[in-house]
Amino acid sequence: MILSNPKQKINMRHFLNLSDWSSEDLQHLIQLAVDLKSEWRSGGNKPVLANKILAMVFQKPSLRTRVSFEVGMQHLGGHAIMIGPNEIGLGKRESIADIARVLSGYVQGIMARVFEHDHVEQLADWASVPVINGLSDASHPCQAMADLLTIYEHFGRTEGLKLAYIGDGNNVAASLVVACASFGLDFTIASPAGYELSESVLDIAHERNRNMSIELLRDPAEAVHDADIVYTDTWISMGQEEESGERIKAFEQYQVNQKLLTKAGKEAIVMHDLPAYRGKEITDDVADGPQSVIFKQAENRLHAQKAILVRLMS
Ligand code: CP
Ligand code: NVA
Repeated sequence: MILSNPKQKINMRHFLNLSDWSSEDLQHLIQLAVDLKSEWRSGGNKPVLANKILAMVFQKPSLRTRVSFEVGMQHLGGHAIMIGPNEIGLGKRESIADIARVLSGYVQGIMARVFEHDHVEQLADWASVPVINGLSDASHPCQAMADLLTIYEHFGRTEGLKLAYIGDGNNVAASLVVACASFGLDFTIASPAGYELSESVLDIAHERNRNMSIELLRDPAEAVHDADIVYTDTWISMGQEEESGERIKAFEQYQVNQKLLTKAGKEAIVMHDLPAYRGKEITDDVADGPQSVIFKQAENRLHAQKAILVRLMS
């Protein structure tokens, strides 16, 4: 008997990058999230994931991802198991291929938060159950789905809106630009030199939607001009703590504050995936001000992820 990579045998659906899913599929996911949210609010979700278990593998800290996935599984009649960074030693105590195959014998889905994106890809290569990317250094697709749900709920549409992202061209920005391409928003990003969004991600977004406008700028004030959504994220992502000093210096002019916000559209909303480093990338008055939707956004992690869980695991 010859052992082979299980991916060759099973046409498994994973949620690793938004670009693996068509725009139409992502739009259906948001519709499902809207439906599940309204079902939950009118008395509770049907137990469509009864007896299903989700393993949650975390190589980095988390509040939203960890709690929203666990609560989401419970609302849908299933259960989640937390596996923290010191427990399984992903790729250290045991190979990723072995961990993926062992977990596949116990659970019906794996959600993983990792450093190297390749690690979540390897889990998906070897698992015979669906794998969800709960953040890697390259992308944060679950966050972007919650963001699009929030934008859709606020404006009642997504097409024709302009999202201005201020700051680091990081994992959150990488998923957002593809989400914008999938949902018909224009995307502008202002980053300091050396911290721009990668060309390969921009190519994916362009490829997906040739009609959208993507602008890479230096000046935050120019970026937020006429924006419907002003978005920011930390200047120092998990794993970059040693670069704190140089990053704080590089991003000094990239704070989302009241002065910058007055240059955006009057009805613009402010978004942040959280955790927020108040006084750094965003000021208290903006984060807690009338234009901020950051806590609705955080809540929508739950509803957007339920749609992903139902689509992959039921
Ligand atoms: N936004 C987000 O992913 O938050 P956590 O790191 O707390 O999961
Ligand atoms: N860019 C941040 C997002 C945290 C949710 C990080 O990777 O740490």
